[in-house]
Amino acid sequence: MRKAFEIGFGTTENELVIDELQLKGKIPDWVEGTLLRNGPGTFKAGNQNYRHWFDGLAMLHKFTFRNGTVSYANKFLQCKAYNEAKLNEKISYSEFATDPCYSLFDRVKGVFSPKITDSAKVNVGNLSGKFVALGEPSLQMEFDPETLESVGVFAYDNKVNQHVTTVHPHIDNNEVINLTTRFGRVSNYRFMKLTKGNDPQLVASQKVKSPAYLHSFGMSKNYLIITEFPYVVNPLKVLFKAKPFIENYVWKPERGTRIFIFDRNSGKLIKKTITDAFFAFHHINAFEKGNELIFDIAAYPDPGIIQSFYLDRIKSEEKILPGGEIRRYKVDLNSSQKVTFEKLTDELIELPRFDYDKLNMNGNYQFIYSIGMDSKAKNSFYDQIVKSDIKSGKSVVWSEQNCFPGEPVFIRNPKSKSEDDGIILSVVLDESKGNSFLLVMDAQSFTEIARAEIPHAVLFGYHGNFYTNI
Ligand code: CO
Repeated sequence: MRKAFEIGFGTTENELVIDELQLKGKIPDWVEGTLLRNGPGTFKAGNQNYRHWFDGLAMLHKFTFRNGTVSYANKFLQCKAYNEAKLNEKISYSEFATDPCYSLFDRVKGVFSPKITDSAKVNVGNLSGKFVALGEPSLQMEFDPETLESVGVFAYDNKVNQHVTTVHPHIDNNEVINLTTRFGRVSNYRFMKLTKGNDPQLVASQKVKSPAYLHSFGMSKNYLIITEFPYVVNPLKVLFKAKPFIENYVWKPERGTRIFIFDRNSGKLIKKTITDAFFAFHHINAFEKGNELIFDIAAYPDPGIIQSFYLDRIKSEEKILPGGEIRRYKVDLNSSQKVTFEKLTDELIELPRFDYDKLNMNGNYQFIYSIGMDSKAKNSFYDQIVKSDIKSGKSVVWSEQNCFPGEPVFIRNPKSKSEDDGIILSVVLDESKGNSFLLVMDAQSFTEIARAEIPHAVLFGYHGNFYTNI
Protein backbone atom coordinates (compact mmCIF):
# COMPACT_ATOMS: atom_id res chain seq x y z
CA MET A 1 0.00 0.00 0.00
CA ARG A 2 1.16 3.53 -0.71
CA LYS A 3 2.87 5.05 2.35
CA ALA A 4 0.83 8.29 2.23
CA PHE A 5 -2.41 6.35 2.70
CA GLU A 6 -0.97 4.04 5.34
CA ILE A 7 -0.03 7.05 7.50
CA GLY A 8 -2.79 9.49 6.43
CA PHE A 9 -5.49 6.93 7.29
CA GLY A 10 -3.57 5.39 10.22
CA THR A 11 -3.32 6.37 13.87
CA THR A 12 -1.91 9.42 15.65
CA GLU A 13 0.31 8.07 18.42
CA ASN A 14 0.93 11.25 20.40
CA GLU A 15 -0.91 14.25 21.73
CA LEU A 16 1.68 17.03 21.47
CA VAL A 17 2.09 20.55 22.80
CA ILE A 18 4.92 22.38 21.01
CA ASP A 19 5.75 26.01 21.73
CA GLU A 20 7.53 26.68 18.48
CA LEU A 21 7.50 24.60 15.31
CA GLN A 22 10.58 24.56 13.12
CA LEU A 23 9.92 27.20 10.50
CA LYS A 24 11.29 27.75 7.01
CA GLY A 25 10.48 31.17 5.52
CA LYS A 26 8.88 34.19 7.19
CA ILE A 27 5.30 34.65 8.39
CA PRO A 28 3.94 38.15 7.57
CA ASP A 29 3.88 40.44 10.64
CA TRP A 30 0.10 40.95 10.54
CA VAL A 31 -0.70 37.23 11.02
CA GLU A 32 -1.80 36.80 14.65
CA GLY A 33 -4.32 34.24 15.80
CA THR A 34 -5.13 30.54 15.81
CA LEU A 35 -6.06 27.98 13.19
CA LEU A 36 -8.26 25.27 14.75
CA ARG A 37 -8.78 22.14 12.68
CA ASN A 38 -10.86 19.01 13.12
CA GLY A 39 -10.53 15.56 11.56
CA PRO A 40 -9.88 11.92 12.35
CA GLY A 41 -7.12 11.11 14.83
CA THR A 42 -7.31 7.36 14.32
CA PHE A 43 -8.98 4.84 12.03
CA LYS A 44 -8.46 2.00 14.51
CA ALA A 45 -10.02 0.82 17.76
CA GLY A 46 -7.90 -1.99 19.17
CA ASN A 47 -7.40 -4.31 16.20
CA GLN A 48 -10.58 -3.17 14.46
CA ASN A 49 -10.51 -0.81 11.50
CA TYR A 50 -12.96 1.87 10.50
CA ARG A 51 -14.00 1.62 6.85
CA HIS A 52 -14.53 5.12 5.51
CA TRP A 53 -12.75 8.52 5.48
CA PHE A 54 -15.69 9.98 7.48
CA ASP A 55 -15.46 7.33 10.22
CA GLY A 56 -12.33 7.97 12.31
CA LEU A 57 -12.36 9.30 15.88
CA ALA A 58 -12.12 13.09 16.21
CA MET A 59 -8.88 14.91 16.91
CA LEU A 60 -8.44 18.67 17.24
CA HIS A 61 -5.34 20.49 15.99
CA LYS A 62 -4.28 23.99 16.93
CA PHE A 63 -1.73 26.28 15.27
CA THR A 64 -1.15 29.65 16.97
CA PHE A 65 0.68 32.48 15.22
CA ARG A 66 2.44 35.00 17.51
CA ASN A 67 5.36 37.30 16.64
CA GLY A 68 6.32 35.32 13.56
CA THR A 69 6.34 31.93 15.32
CA VAL A 70 3.90 29.01 15.14
CA SER A 71 2.97 26.82 18.12
CA TYR A 72 1.12 23.50 17.77
CA ALA A 73 -1.04 21.16 19.81
CA ASN A 74 -3.25 18.16 19.01
CA LYS A 75 -5.71 16.26 21.17
CA PHE A 76 -8.35 13.59 20.76
CA LEU A 77 -11.86 14.82 21.43
CA GLN A 78 -12.79 13.31 24.81
CA CYS A 79 -16.12 11.83 23.85
CA LYS A 80 -17.80 8.53 24.73
CA ALA A 81 -17.04 6.98 21.32
CA TYR A 82 -13.31 7.66 21.85
CA ASN A 83 -13.17 6.75 25.54
CA GLU A 84 -15.00 3.44 25.05
CA ALA A 85 -12.99 2.55 21.94
CA LYS A 86 -9.83 3.05 23.97
CA LEU A 87 -11.07 1.23 27.04
CA ASN A 88 -12.61 -1.75 25.27
CA GLU A 89 -10.18 -1.79 22.33
CA LYS A 90 -13.06 -2.14 19.91
CA ILE A 91 -15.48 -0.02 17.90
CA SER A 92 -18.36 0.72 20.28
CA TYR A 93 -20.36 3.42 18.48
CA SER A 94 -21.90 3.65 15.04
CA GLU A 95 -20.06 6.02 12.70
CA PHE A 96 -20.85 7.34 9.20
CA ALA A 97 -20.17 4.05 7.40
CA THR A 98 -19.06 1.66 10.15
CA ASP A 99 -21.14 -0.06 12.79
CA PRO A 100 -19.75 -2.04 15.71
CA CYS A 101 -19.66 -5.80 15.07
CA TYR A 102 -22.32 -7.94 16.66
CA SER A 103 -22.30 -11.58 17.56
CA LEU A 104 -24.68 -13.89 15.78
CA PHE A 105 -26.50 -14.23 19.11
CA ASP A 106 -27.16 -10.47 19.22
CA ARG A 107 -28.41 -10.54 15.65
CA VAL A 108 -30.74 -13.46 16.19
CA LYS A 109 -32.15 -11.84 19.31
CA GLY A 110 -32.45 -8.55 17.47
CA VAL A 111 -30.85 -6.72 20.36
CA PHE A 112 -28.21 -4.88 18.40
CA SER A 113 -28.86 -1.20 18.39
CA PRO A 114 -25.61 0.67 18.02
CA LYS A 115 -25.21 3.92 19.83
CA ILE A 116 -24.69 6.88 17.52
CA THR A 117 -21.28 8.48 17.71
CA ASP A 118 -20.61 11.66 19.64
CA SER A 119 -17.19 11.94 18.02
CA ALA A 120 -17.79 15.33 16.36
CA LYS A 121 -15.00 15.30 13.85
CA VAL A 122 -15.91 17.38 10.81
CA ASN A 123 -15.57 21.08 11.63
CA VAL A 124 -15.12 23.61 14.41
CA GLY A 125 -17.26 26.65 15.05
CA ASN A 126 -17.47 29.62 17.38
CA LEU A 127 -21.19 29.38 18.16
CA SER A 128 -22.33 32.38 20.18
CA GLY A 129 -19.06 32.53 22.08
CA LYS A 130 -18.58 28.79 22.59
CA PHE A 131 -16.01 26.78 20.64
CA VAL A 132 -17.67 23.62 19.40
CA ALA A 133 -16.46 20.53 17.55
CA LEU A 134 -19.10 19.89 14.91
CA GLY A 135 -20.27 16.53 13.62
CA GLU A 136 -23.32 15.36 11.70
CA PRO A 137 -25.08 13.46 14.52
CA SER A 138 -26.85 15.96 16.75
CA LEU A 139 -24.52 15.73 19.77
CA GLN A 140 -21.81 18.35 19.37
CA MET A 141 -18.91 18.83 21.78
CA GLU A 142 -17.80 22.10 23.29
CA PHE A 143 -14.05 22.41 23.88
CA ASP A 144 -11.58 24.84 25.40
CA PRO A 145 -9.70 26.53 22.54
CA GLU A 146 -6.64 27.10 24.76
CA THR A 147 -6.12 23.53 25.98
CA LEU A 148 -8.29 21.60 23.44
CA GLU A 149 -9.87 19.85 26.46
CA SER A 150 -13.47 18.78 25.94
CA VAL A 151 -15.95 20.78 28.03
CA GLY A 152 -19.24 18.96 27.42
CA VAL A 153 -22.10 18.25 25.07
CA PHE A 154 -23.53 21.14 23.07
CA ALA A 155 -26.96 20.82 21.40
CA TYR A 156 -28.73 23.13 18.97
CA ASP A 157 -31.91 22.49 20.76
CA ASN A 158 -32.07 21.68 24.46
CA LYS A 159 -34.65 18.98 23.81
CA VAL A 160 -32.50 17.52 21.00
CA ASN A 161 -35.35 17.58 18.54
CA GLN A 162 -33.18 16.60 15.61
CA HIS A 163 -31.06 13.60 14.71
CA VAL A 164 -28.53 15.15 12.33
CA THR A 165 -27.26 18.64 11.55
CA THR A 166 -25.01 20.11 8.90
CA VAL A 167 -21.47 20.93 9.98
CA HIS A 168 -21.60 24.21 8.09
CA PRO A 169 -23.67 26.65 10.14
CA HIS A 170 -23.89 30.14 8.66
CA ILE A 171 -22.89 33.10 10.78
CA ASP A 172 -24.27 36.58 10.09
CA ASN A 173 -23.59 39.32 12.64
CA ASN A 174 -24.52 37.68 15.93
CA GLU A 175 -26.77 35.00 14.49
CA VAL A 176 -25.77 31.39 13.94
CA ILE A 177 -28.12 29.44 11.70
CA ASN A 178 -27.95 25.73 10.99
CA LEU A 179 -30.06 23.17 9.18
CA THR A 180 -31.00 20.05 11.12
CA THR A 181 -33.08 17.00 10.24
CA ARG A 182 -35.45 15.13 12.50
CA PHE A 183 -36.32 11.58 11.42
CA GLY A 184 -39.66 10.03 12.30
CA ARG A 185 -42.93 8.81 10.85
CA VAL A 186 -43.12 12.43 9.81
CA SER A 187 -39.63 13.82 9.27
CA ASN A 188 -38.70 17.49 9.28
CA TYR A 189 -35.95 19.76 8.06
CA ARG A 190 -35.54 22.35 10.79
CA PHE A 191 -33.55 25.61 10.61
CA MET A 192 -32.32 26.55 14.09
CA LYS A 193 -31.04 29.95 15.15
CA LEU A 194 -28.65 30.61 18.02
CA THR A 195 -28.00 34.00 19.54
CA LYS A 196 -25.90 34.66 22.62
CA GLY A 197 -27.77 34.32 25.89
CA ASN A 198 -30.98 33.00 24.29
CA ASP A 199 -32.47 29.56 23.87
CA PRO A 200 -32.12 28.09 20.38
CA GLN A 201 -35.00 29.18 18.20
CA LEU A 202 -36.77 27.33 15.38
CA VAL A 203 -36.67 29.63 12.33
CA ALA A 204 -38.32 27.48 9.66
CA SER A 205 -39.30 23.87 9.17
CA GLN A 206 -40.38 21.65 6.32
CA LYS A 207 -42.09 18.28 6.48
CA VAL A 208 -40.40 15.64 4.33
CA LYS A 209 -41.24 12.01 3.60
CA SER A 210 -37.78 10.82 2.51
CA PRO A 211 -35.11 13.15 3.91
CA ALA A 212 -31.97 13.71 1.84
CA TYR A 213 -28.36 13.56 2.98
CA LEU A 214 -27.54 17.27 3.41
CA HIS A 215 -24.03 18.39 4.33
CA SER A 216 -24.59 22.15 3.95
CA PHE A 217 -27.21 24.72 2.96
CA GLY A 218 -27.34 28.12 1.29
CA MET A 219 -28.04 31.47 2.90
CA SER A 220 -28.39 34.91 1.31
CA LYS A 221 -29.36 38.21 2.97
CA ASN A 222 -33.08 37.36 2.92
CA TYR A 223 -33.34 33.64 2.20
CA LEU A 224 -32.44 30.17 3.41
CA ILE A 225 -31.96 27.49 0.76
CA ILE A 226 -32.29 23.71 1.00
CA THR A 227 -30.87 22.05 -2.09
CA GLU A 228 -32.39 18.61 -1.68
CA PHE A 229 -30.35 16.18 -3.76
CA PRO A 230 -32.21 12.94 -4.50
CA TYR A 231 -29.94 10.90 -2.21
CA VAL A 232 -32.68 10.00 0.23
CA VAL A 233 -33.58 7.64 3.04
CA ASN A 234 -36.57 5.91 4.48
CA PRO A 235 -36.32 7.57 7.93
CA LEU A 236 -37.36 4.42 9.76
CA LYS A 237 -34.26 2.67 8.40
CA VAL A 238 -32.07 5.31 10.05
CA LEU A 239 -34.01 5.12 13.29
CA PHE A 240 -33.84 1.33 13.39
CA LYS A 241 -30.20 1.37 12.28
CA ALA A 242 -30.57 -1.33 9.70
CA LYS A 243 -27.16 -0.50 8.28
CA PRO A 244 -24.39 2.01 8.99
CA PHE A 245 -25.85 5.53 8.66
CA ILE A 246 -24.98 6.46 5.08
CA GLU A 247 -25.64 2.99 3.66
CA ASN A 248 -29.38 3.47 4.28
CA TYR A 249 -29.48 6.25 1.67
CA VAL A 250 -30.57 5.53 -1.91
CA TRP A 251 -29.84 7.52 -5.08
CA LYS A 252 -33.11 8.29 -6.89
CA PRO A 253 -32.17 10.59 -9.79
CA GLU A 254 -35.69 10.39 -11.23
CA ARG A 255 -36.83 12.61 -8.32
CA GLY A 256 -34.64 15.51 -9.51
CA THR A 257 -33.15 18.00 -7.05
CA ARG A 258 -35.80 19.96 -5.16
CA ILE A 259 -34.94 23.47 -4.05
CA PHE A 260 -36.78 24.93 -1.03
CA ILE A 261 -36.43 28.67 -0.39
CA PHE A 262 -37.51 30.17 2.94
CA ASP A 263 -37.80 33.79 4.02
CA ARG A 264 -35.17 34.30 6.72
CA ASN A 265 -37.36 36.62 8.79
CA SER A 266 -40.78 35.01 8.65
CA GLY A 267 -39.59 31.42 8.14
CA LYS A 268 -42.21 31.04 5.42
CA LEU A 269 -41.54 28.74 2.45
CA ILE A 270 -41.64 31.24 -0.41
CA LYS A 271 -40.68 28.98 -3.29
CA LYS A 272 -40.30 25.30 -4.05
CA THR A 273 -38.83 24.38 -7.40
CA ILE A 274 -36.99 21.52 -9.06
CA THR A 275 -33.96 20.98 -11.25
CA ASP A 276 -32.04 18.01 -12.62
CA ALA A 277 -30.52 15.50 -10.21
CA PHE A 278 -27.07 16.24 -8.86
CA PHE A 279 -25.19 15.84 -5.58
CA ALA A 280 -22.98 18.12 -3.49
CA PHE A 281 -21.44 18.36 -0.07
CA HIS A 282 -20.72 22.06 -0.18
CA HIS A 283 -22.70 25.16 -0.92
CA ILE A 284 -20.09 27.89 -1.46
CA ASN A 285 -21.84 31.27 -1.52
CA ALA A 286 -25.36 32.60 -2.16
CA PHE A 287 -26.64 36.08 -2.98
CA GLU A 288 -29.49 38.02 -4.52
CA LYS A 289 -29.58 40.06 -7.71
CA GLY A 290 -32.87 41.70 -8.65
CA ASN A 291 -35.46 38.93 -8.73
CA GLU A 292 -32.85 36.22 -8.83
CA LEU A 293 -31.50 34.09 -6.03
CA ILE A 294 -28.08 32.80 -7.04
CA PHE A 295 -26.02 30.12 -5.34
CA ASP A 296 -22.64 28.56 -6.06
CA ILE A 297 -22.07 24.91 -5.19
CA ALA A 298 -19.44 22.18 -5.73
CA ALA A 299 -21.57 19.72 -7.74
CA TYR A 300 -21.20 16.09 -8.78
CA PRO A 301 -23.43 14.19 -11.23
CA ASP A 302 -24.22 11.67 -8.46
CA PRO A 303 -23.12 10.71 -4.90
CA GLY A 304 -20.42 8.28 -6.19
CA ILE A 305 -17.85 10.44 -4.34
CA ILE A 306 -19.11 8.92 -1.07
CA GLN A 307 -18.28 5.42 -2.35
CA SER A 308 -14.86 6.72 -3.40
CA PHE A 309 -14.04 7.57 0.22
CA TYR A 310 -14.15 3.96 1.45
CA LEU A 311 -10.59 3.36 2.61
CA ASP A 312 -10.08 0.11 0.72
CA ARG A 313 -10.98 1.95 -2.47
CA ILE A 314 -8.59 4.88 -1.81
CA LYS A 315 -5.84 2.50 -0.81
CA SER A 316 -6.30 0.34 -3.93
CA GLU A 317 -4.96 3.34 -5.93
CA GLU A 318 -6.81 2.21 -9.03
CA LYS A 319 -9.08 5.17 -9.55
CA ILE A 320 -8.66 8.86 -9.08
CA LEU A 321 -11.41 10.56 -7.10
CA PRO A 322 -14.28 12.28 -8.84
CA GLY A 323 -14.07 16.07 -8.39
CA GLY A 324 -16.72 18.70 -7.81
CA GLU A 325 -17.57 21.21 -10.50
CA ILE A 326 -18.12 24.82 -9.36
CA ARG A 327 -21.65 25.57 -10.62
CA ARG A 328 -23.70 28.74 -10.30
CA TYR A 329 -27.45 28.09 -10.00
CA LYS A 330 -30.02 30.80 -10.64
CA VAL A 331 -33.60 30.74 -9.39
CA ASP A 332 -36.07 33.42 -10.48
CA LEU A 333 -38.13 34.20 -7.39
CA ASN A 334 -40.96 35.94 -9.21
CA SER A 335 -41.67 33.57 -12.06
CA SER A 336 -41.94 29.89 -12.78
CA GLN A 337 -38.96 30.10 -15.11
CA LYS A 338 -36.74 27.02 -15.07
CA VAL A 339 -33.77 26.88 -12.71
CA THR A 340 -30.57 27.34 -14.73
CA PHE A 341 -26.91 26.76 -13.99
CA GLU A 342 -23.52 27.47 -15.50
CA LYS A 343 -20.12 25.98 -14.82
CA LEU A 344 -17.73 28.66 -13.50
CA THR A 345 -14.33 26.96 -13.97
CA ASP A 346 -12.89 23.80 -15.55
CA GLU A 347 -10.89 22.63 -12.54
CA LEU A 348 -12.51 19.91 -10.37
CA ILE A 349 -12.36 20.67 -6.66
CA GLU A 350 -13.51 19.88 -3.11
CA LEU A 351 -13.45 21.61 0.31
CA PRO A 352 -14.07 25.05 -1.24
CA ARG A 353 -13.35 28.18 0.81
CA PHE A 354 -13.44 31.92 0.14
CA ASP A 355 -13.21 35.12 2.19
CA TYR A 356 -16.39 34.25 4.09
CA ASP A 357 -16.03 36.93 6.77
CA LYS A 358 -16.05 39.74 4.23
CA LEU A 359 -17.79 38.34 1.16
CA ASN A 360 -20.42 35.85 2.27
CA MET A 361 -23.75 36.69 0.57
CA ASN A 362 -21.88 39.11 -1.73
CA GLY A 363 -22.14 38.43 -5.47
CA ASN A 364 -18.96 40.33 -6.27
CA TYR A 365 -16.62 37.74 -4.90
CA GLN A 366 -14.01 36.40 -7.29
CA PHE A 367 -11.78 33.75 -5.67
CA ILE A 368 -12.45 30.24 -4.36
CA TYR A 369 -9.68 28.17 -2.73
CA SER A 370 -10.01 24.37 -2.70
CA ILE A 371 -8.19 21.09 -3.00
CA GLY A 372 -8.14 19.09 -6.21
CA MET A 373 -6.47 16.34 -8.17
CA ASP A 374 -3.69 16.51 -10.71
CA SER A 375 -5.10 14.23 -13.40
CA LYS A 376 -1.61 13.47 -14.73
CA ALA A 377 -0.24 12.38 -11.34
CA LYS A 378 -2.99 9.73 -10.99
CA ASN A 379 -2.98 9.75 -7.20
CA SER A 380 -6.14 8.38 -5.67
CA PHE A 381 -6.45 11.29 -3.21
CA TYR A 382 -6.26 15.10 -3.27
CA ASP A 383 -2.80 16.26 -4.29
CA GLN A 384 -3.07 19.95 -5.12
CA ILE A 385 -4.45 23.27 -3.90
CA VAL A 386 -6.51 25.23 -6.39
CA LYS A 387 -7.25 28.96 -6.60
CA SER A 388 -10.22 29.51 -8.90
CA ASP A 389 -10.98 32.91 -10.39
CA ILE A 390 -14.71 32.60 -11.01
CA LYS A 391 -14.82 35.86 -12.97
CA SER A 392 -12.28 34.75 -15.61
CA GLY A 393 -12.86 30.99 -15.21
CA LYS A 394 -9.11 30.46 -14.83
CA SER A 395 -7.44 28.46 -12.07
CA VAL A 396 -3.92 28.26 -10.66
CA VAL A 397 -2.63 25.33 -8.65
CA TRP A 398 0.00 24.58 -6.03
CA SER A 399 1.42 21.09 -5.83
CA GLU A 400 4.59 19.33 -4.75
CA GLN A 401 5.65 15.79 -5.52
CA ASN A 402 4.36 13.20 -3.01
CA CYS A 403 2.49 15.87 -1.06
CA PHE A 404 -1.20 15.70 -0.11
CA PRO A 405 -2.68 19.03 1.05
CA GLY A 406 -5.78 19.55 3.19
CA GLU A 407 -8.46 22.23 3.09
CA PRO A 408 -6.97 25.69 2.31
CA VAL A 409 -8.09 28.37 4.78
CA PHE A 410 -7.88 31.99 3.60
CA ILE A 411 -6.92 34.75 6.06
CA ARG A 412 -7.36 38.31 4.88
CA ASN A 413 -4.68 40.92 5.54
CA PRO A 414 -6.55 43.43 7.75
CA LYS A 415 -5.14 46.23 5.57
CA SER A 416 -6.02 44.48 2.30
CA LYS A 417 -7.06 46.45 -0.73
CA SER A 418 -7.78 43.50 -3.00
CA GLU A 419 -9.80 40.33 -2.40
CA ASP A 420 -6.81 37.97 -2.48
CA ASP A 421 -4.47 40.09 -0.31
CA GLY A 422 -3.91 37.56 2.44
CA ILE A 423 -2.49 34.13 3.15
CA ILE A 424 -3.61 30.54 2.69
CA LEU A 425 -2.98 27.90 5.37
CA SER A 426 -3.07 24.19 4.54
CA VAL A 427 -1.87 21.14 6.46
CA VAL A 428 0.09 19.04 3.95
CA LEU A 429 1.10 15.40 4.35
CA ASP A 430 4.60 14.86 2.96
CA GLU A 431 4.81 11.21 1.96
CA SER A 432 8.57 11.14 1.42
CA LYS A 433 9.37 12.51 4.90
CA GLY A 434 6.49 10.73 6.65
CA ASN A 435 5.21 13.83 8.47
CA SER A 436 2.99 16.84 7.81
CA PHE A 437 3.76 20.53 7.58
CA LEU A 438 1.66 23.66 7.76
CA LEU A 439 2.00 25.41 4.43
CA VAL A 440 1.71 29.21 4.43
CA MET A 441 1.07 30.69 0.99
CA ASP A 442 0.69 34.18 -0.35
CA ALA A 443 -2.87 34.06 -1.69
CA GLN A 444 -2.24 36.60 -4.43
CA SER A 445 0.81 35.00 -6.09
CA PHE A 446 -0.29 31.54 -4.88
CA THR A 447 3.28 30.62 -3.91
CA GLU A 448 4.77 29.35 -0.67
CA ILE A 449 6.10 31.93 1.78
CA ALA A 450 6.73 29.65 4.76
CA ARG A 451 6.26 26.14 6.10
CA ALA A 452 6.19 24.91 9.69
CA GLU A 453 7.25 21.28 10.15
CA ILE A 454 4.99 19.18 12.40
CA PRO A 455 6.89 16.31 14.06
CA HIS A 456 4.25 13.73 13.10
CA ALA A 457 1.75 13.03 10.36
CA VAL A 458 -1.62 14.76 10.65
CA LEU A 459 -4.24 12.32 9.32
CA PHE A 460 -6.30 13.47 6.32
CA GLY A 461 -8.80 15.87 7.90
CA TYR A 462 -11.77 17.97 6.90
CA HIS A 463 -12.48 21.52 8.04
CA GLY A 464 -10.99 24.25 10.21
CA ASN A 465 -11.18 27.97 10.86
CA PHE A 466 -8.87 30.80 11.83
CA TYR A 467 -9.69 32.93 14.88
CA THR A 468 -7.94 36.19 15.71
CA ASN A 469 -9.26 36.16 19.31
CA ILE A 470 -7.42 33.02 20.48
CO1 CO B 1 -17.94 19.98 4.78
